[in-house]
Amino acid sequence: MKVIGIGGSLRKNSNSEYYVRYTLDKLAAEGMETEFISLSGKTIKPCRGCYGCREAKKCIQEDDDFGDIFDKMYGADGIIVGSPVYYSSAVPQLMALLDRAGFSSRFSGKFFSRKVGAPITVARRAGHNLAFAQLLMWYYINDMIIPGNTYWNVATAGAGGARDPENDREVHDILDNFAKNMAWVLKKLNSGS
Ligand SMILES: Cc1cc2nc3c(=O)[nH]c(=O)nc-3n(C[C@H](O)[C@H](O)[C@H](O)COP(=O)(O)O)c2cc1C
Repeated sequence: MKVIGIGGSLRKNSNSEYYVRYTLDKLAAEGMETEFISLSGKTIKPCRGCYGCREAKKCIQEDDDFGDIFDKMYGADGIIVGSPVYYSSAVPQLMALLDRAGFSSRFSGKFFSRKVGAPITVARRAGHNLAFAQLLMWYYINDMIIPGNTYWNVATAGAGGARDPENDREVHDILDNFAKNMAWVLKKLNSGS
């Protein structure tokens, strides 16, 4: 079973990358094959609303890095996305990817159906939950399975975006539980019974 984690921050060594990688490591310990994909250094143009995917059964914008990442999403059993919070929202580069991936999937066979996953959001002070809810909406309408947790997958960055995860033990416990639940769901789904 393969789980990919997509880091939405354009900053190198970001907080959201740390937390996505941390969760992937926990999933690897549960026997999952994992891969981290950063949007940093990549170009993902926004959906232009052409509806070309309805005919072509894939996104027809082919002049950026969307296709490679989309193929990895398509091939995965589980997808985690990590986003910094900008003005209480998920970051635009991640939403550009998810908009185009969601529409391509919708018009070419709903192949995100029953893939498993959830988001992780990182803010300095406020807006974590709004961005988390925004991303959950994407999972839900794409027919995916979202494992529950005993808290939301939200974390806090240091001042000025400083990397600060070592100072927040609680969020590690939250993500440990999430990873356990996600592995549990994936194993059940793939048990063949
Ligand atoms: C344009 C911009 C908008 C931001 N808006 C918020 C916000 O609404 N709430 C908040 O707590 N932090 C906000 N921040 C701080 C970031 O959320 C924080 O630095 C981020 O989580 C860092 O994540 P990263 O290390 O993964 O890039 C903002 C930062 C930027 C650059």
